[in-house]
Amino acid sequence: MASPGPLIGATDAAPPGSVDIHEGDNLVVSRMLADASFTLIYLDPPFNTGRAQERSIETARSAASVPPTAERIVRRGFHGREYERIRGDLRVYDDTFDDYWSFLEPRLLEAWRLLADDGTLYLHLDYREAHYAKVLMDALVGRERFLNELIWAYDYGAKTRRRWPTKHDTILVYVKDPKSYWFDSEAVDREPYMAPGLVTPEKAERGKLPTDVWWHTIVPTTGREKTGYPTQKPEGILRRIVQASSRPGDRVLDFFAGSGTTGAVASALGRDAVLVDHNPDAIAVMRERMPHARVFAEPGR
Ligand SMILES: C[S@@+](CC[C@H](N)C(=O)[O-])C[C@H]1O[C@@H](n2cnc3c(N)ncnc32)[C@H](O)[C@@H]1O
Repeated sequence: MASPGPLIGATDAAPPGSVDIHEGDNLVVSRMLADASFTLIYLDPPFNTGRAQERSIETARSAASVPPTAERIVRRGFHGREYERIRGDLRVYDDTFDDYWSFLEPRLLEAWRLLADDGTLYLHLDYREAHYAKVLMDALVGRERFLNELIWAYDYGAKTRRRWPTKHDTILVYVKDPKSYWFDSEAVDREPYMAPGLVTPEKAERGKLPTDVWWHTIVPTTGREKTGYPTQKPEGILRRIVQASSRPGDRVLDFFAGSGTTGAVASALGRDAVLVDHNPDAIAVMRERMPHARVFAEPGR
């Protein structure tokens, strides 16, 4: 695996934040973490790869193991009855998605429990899952808590000629409290105007605030950032998220951590990160990428 170079943001003023890496199932590890203790949670669950196998195990396990707090949220809190009804309706359209959601639901409930009162949850999905997930998330936590749908558009790889080539991911953004959440647009790196001639030279020089459509390259196949982990996300995407939705000193959680992009970026920007992954390869990549991290073995081992 390529050894990653210096991090984007490593020169920012804040001293690097701490990083704790946990090896293990995120449902198990998340239960060891305190309520409302993270300002920012970014989740990038696996898409459909290996879903069928994992789902049958997780469905059985999750039914038995939704923690009391989480269960309270779904069954009695927020939109309990409505949620169950909507989930039932979606099952009729796509039972494959329903199986996938059985894996995700208990984890999303844990994420919601862990999210601070001013916190923000980013849920990174692909186009096959984003729409069902949006409907279910609205019903689960309340539509009024939905903040944004971010489109990350890239342009890489083979292109079909039978339809519009799909070259984007969707990131759904929810806030714990729509009246009081942390969002600092001033802290976000600006980007060039598409038509700089239409604005004043000062504005063109300063650049524009990114909108909800983010054109950003995938992790280059060669280069500083590449770790070799197959599903690695670009630091530039996480950098915007961390800059906007957390402050230096805040705690950031990613419990589908993979190569640890969230932790690497958060730490470089002075946030404290907690990362979880059950794949030993991911743990090895993260160790190399963040030599300053503390690594904890799988609970019960
Ligand atoms: C899409 S990848 C995340 C990639 C990451 N955002 C990055 O930039 O490298 C999803 C990760 O979730 C991990 N994962 C899947 N199910 C898990 C579970 N139940 N507990 C912990 N990790 C899990 C996989 O091992 C994989 O590394």
